[in-house]
Amino acid sequence: MHKEYNPQFAEKYSKLVDNKLLKFFRSFRMRELEIKKYIEKNHKIFDCGCGTGYCLDYLKKRGFNQLFGCEVEKNLVKNLDKKYNIKLESITSLSNSYKKDTFDIIIIHDVLHHLYTKEEYNKAVNNLKYVLKPKGYIFIAEPDNNLFWKIMLFACKNFYFIPWLKPTWDGYKTEIKEFDLFFANKNYINGLYKKEFKIIKTKKSFYRSITILQKR
Ligand SMILES: C[S@@+](CC[C@H](N)C(=O)[O-])C[C@H]1O[C@@H](n2cnc3c(N)ncnc32)[C@H](O)[C@@H]1O
Repeated sequence: MHKEYNPQFAEKYSKLVDNKLLKFFRSFRMRELEIKKYIEKNHKIFDCGCGTGYCLDYLKKRGFNQLFGCEVEKNLVKNLDKKYNIKLESITSLSNSYKKDTFDIIIIHDVLHHLYTKEEYNKAVNNLKYVLKPKGYIFIAEPDNNLFWKIMLFACKNFYFIPWLKPTWDGYKTEIKEFDLFFANKNYINGLYKKEFKIIKTKKSFYRSITILQKR
């Protein structure tokens, strides 16, 4: 079940998007996905859990125009639904909104760890498979249970008094349980992918893992 962000947190999160350092970091993160190797100008691209629309903005600036997405948090979407084709809904209900084999590319950027149960993962994976065209690609980027996150979470908990860590910790406070569950379920989740999709590439950086999949 999706846990709603409170409006204050959503407001802070939206403002973080305008931070110059974060903008730089985010475009680095997009390049890390290597999406350009697989994407074509006529492709229909779907961003699951698009948040404030960072991935979609990035692609729009690079000339991609068939951009779609979903997001459960209305406080984050705001006017984004008018700019792109965003529906306010969960990944777990996508097959009600789109026809089979609609999209060429799906992006799931920092979202899967928000799904709590095996049932939700199952539904999400089935829906993604349903809306993705045969041979279409999915790009998944998620935090990994590595030293970076251990240090980050420790710093946020213990050095909360440092002003620039406060918003970070406020964000992670809502997500710690989700991270724990996600890390614990990782093998199960990877197993699901293998059944439904061909794994084209996996790579790990110091703070996360990226998986590129193709529909079987
Ligand atoms: C860490 S943010 C990442 C946002 C965006 N993908 C980005 O990279 O900037 C996670 C997003 O997933 C959304 N989300 C959580 N559960 C979801 C679900 N079941 N379906 C769709 N979106 C979901 C949250 O509301 C939030 O905006």
